[in-house]
Amino acid sequence: MAQQISSKLALVSGASTGIGYYLAEQCAKHGYDLLIAADESRIAEAGEALKSNGVDVQYVEADLATEEGVDKFYAAAKGRPIDLLLANAGRGLGGDFLDQDFREARRVVDTNITGTIYLIQKVGREMRSRRDGRILIVGSIAGFTPGTYQAVYNGTKAFLDSFSFALRAELNDSGVSVTCLMPGATETEFFARAGMLDTKIGSGKKDDPAEVARIGFEAMMRGDGDVVSGWKNKMQSALANIMPASVLAEQHRKQAEPGGAQKH
Ligand SMILES: NC(=O)c1ccc[n+]([C@@H]2O[C@H](COP(=O)([O-])OP(=O)(O)OC[C@H]3O[C@@H](n4cnc5c(N)ncnc54)[C@H](OP(=O)(O)O)[C@@H]3O)[C@@H](O)[C@H]2O)c1
Repeated sequence: MAQQISSKLALVSGASTGIGYYLAEQCAKHGYDLLIAADESRIAEAGEALKSNGVDVQYVEADLATEEGVDKFYAAAKGRPIDLLLANAGRGLGGDFLDQDFREARRVVDTNITGTIYLIQKVGREMRSRRDGRILIVGSIAGFTPGTYQAVYNGTKAFLDSFSFALRAELNDSGVSVTCLMPGATETEFFARAGMLDTKIGSGKKDDPAEVARIGFEAMMRGDGDVVSGWKNKMQSALANIMPASVLAEQHRKQAEPGGAQKH
């Protein structure tokens, strides 16, 4: 017997943990079949857990910092129309830029920017030709602030925040919406992976990733241009619009300085 498939499919990148996992869960709870990817084998655990929502779940282990990895992820849709794309995969990197391993810094750029926009271009072309689809890009309020001790990461998020609005304008009246989710510090594996657990921001209280994902999913379904999750983050981003970049960079130093967790 042919496999029963629902008419709707969501692709979520970086769905093994954190915000991406909960974004995938939101899609599944709203009846979307899932195609999810991450770079490590833990994507299988996430995929199996998401099946409890009663939708079809396919998972792919792929390095989305590379064109080959993105091709592999996209090919796994097997030509099935993609209704939702949630471009979430991303990584951070703490510390002085000059002391960072350049390959690690480059991996942040390749994952957050190159792989992300390559995936969006592939899926976006298909959505535009069908005149139907929704894209959620996970940017960050970090994109509003020069990221002292997180310089490359914040730069990639500034890129994504900007790119998202530009693509949205290009796709005006195309039937395809583009939404940028801009979370603040969120309780995920992000800070451990970025080597930032000894910083003030890394050790401080953070937002709930399930709640951040719900806010992002709902904004995408409404077709909003952007959403900053949480009132504190909303205030922070409003202030960032009026404060000089040099002041913002100094404020960020206090949050992201290595060893800063002990000083406060
Ligand atoms: N946590 C925060 O405070 C915060 C705030 C604002 C924005 N964000 C953004 O939210 C997004 C999700 O991060 P998170 O906080 O949920 O962190 P997380 O728990 O570390 O999740 C990151 C996800 O991205 C995947 N990923 C990273 N590099 C990848 C690669 N090269 N190829 C494939 N998958 C890759 C990870 O899987 P693998 O480990 O298997 O690669 C994981 O599934 C990121 O774009 C991040 O920049 C986070």
